[in-house]
Amino acid sequence: MWDPDKYLTFADHRARPFYELIARIQADSPRRVVDLGCGPGNLTTVLGQRWPTAAIEAFDSSQEMVDAARERGINAHVGDVATWQPRPDTDVVVTNAVLQWVPGHPDMLRRWAKELPSGAWIAMQVPGNFDGPSHNLIRELVARSWSSRLADVNLRPVDAVLTPTGYADLFDGCEVDTWETTYTQVLTGDDPVLEWVTGTALRPIKAALTDNEWARFRAELAPALREVYPRRADGRTWYPFRRVFAVVRVS
Ligand SMILES: C[S@@+](CC[C@H](N)C(=O)[O-])C[C@H]1O[C@@H](n2cnc3c(N)ncnc32)[C@H](O)[C@@H]1O
Repeated sequence: MWDPDKYLTFADHRARPFYELIARIQADSPRRVVDLGCGPGNLTTVLGQRWPTAAIEAFDSSQEMVDAARERGINAHVGDVATWQPRPDTDVVVTNAVLQWVPGHPDMLRRWAKELPSGAWIAMQVPGNFDGPSHNLIRELVARSWSSRLADVNLRPVDAVLTPTGYADLFDGCEVDTWETTYTQVLTGDDPVLEWVTGTALRPIKAALTDNEWARFRAELAPALREVYPRRADGRTWYPFRRVFAVVRVS
């Protein structure tokens, strides 16, 4: 279950890649703009501000996120990205920090490029740190001490997302603009990296454990994260975070 409050704790850090993504979409007056995996809807609102005459639609697989988005006045519905079908007037599709959770999403992107009207835009961004130290530490801890208890948990594999050229390769004949950026996230507080991953990578683990087990899991992970991402004397912690972007104009 996604927790809108936990997710919004880092809203500024997570919003920047979204703004950098949509800056590369050159649609002037799209008819319909769809936000797939809209989360709590704070960034969907930005799409409405950018294209005030467009019909703005949003989907998320989490009822909690859809409820939070609706409270912001967004036309949000529960829906799975994997089975989403574009309407014929869909001119912009944005999916920010979602497809890493969707196995097989490269085939899905290829399908959208065929189904969307000519000239439509697809803009996607995914975290690209599945082989980074924080995620390796989580996988190692699960393998070492929690493998039987968490056998059914869907941890994202190291190859959950493609490289920028991997995404570019999906869209034959389309205009493609793909890139990656590593942000140095400046975090503060006790165990800030643990707090960060609690809102994303650890979400399925937390959901699978009892409260006591979850407290134990966090207590086992915290020192390893502190060692790899040490708190500086000024109280700040650097958390390097790679993200992969693709903006495509469908032919
Ligand atoms: C990291 S949040 C991103 C939210 C928002 N796009 C943003 O940038 O703030 C990931 C969102 O994807 C949603 N999600 C994950 N898998 C999904 C799927 N298969 N279909 C639709 N939404 C999905 C989650 O419920 C969550 O709200």
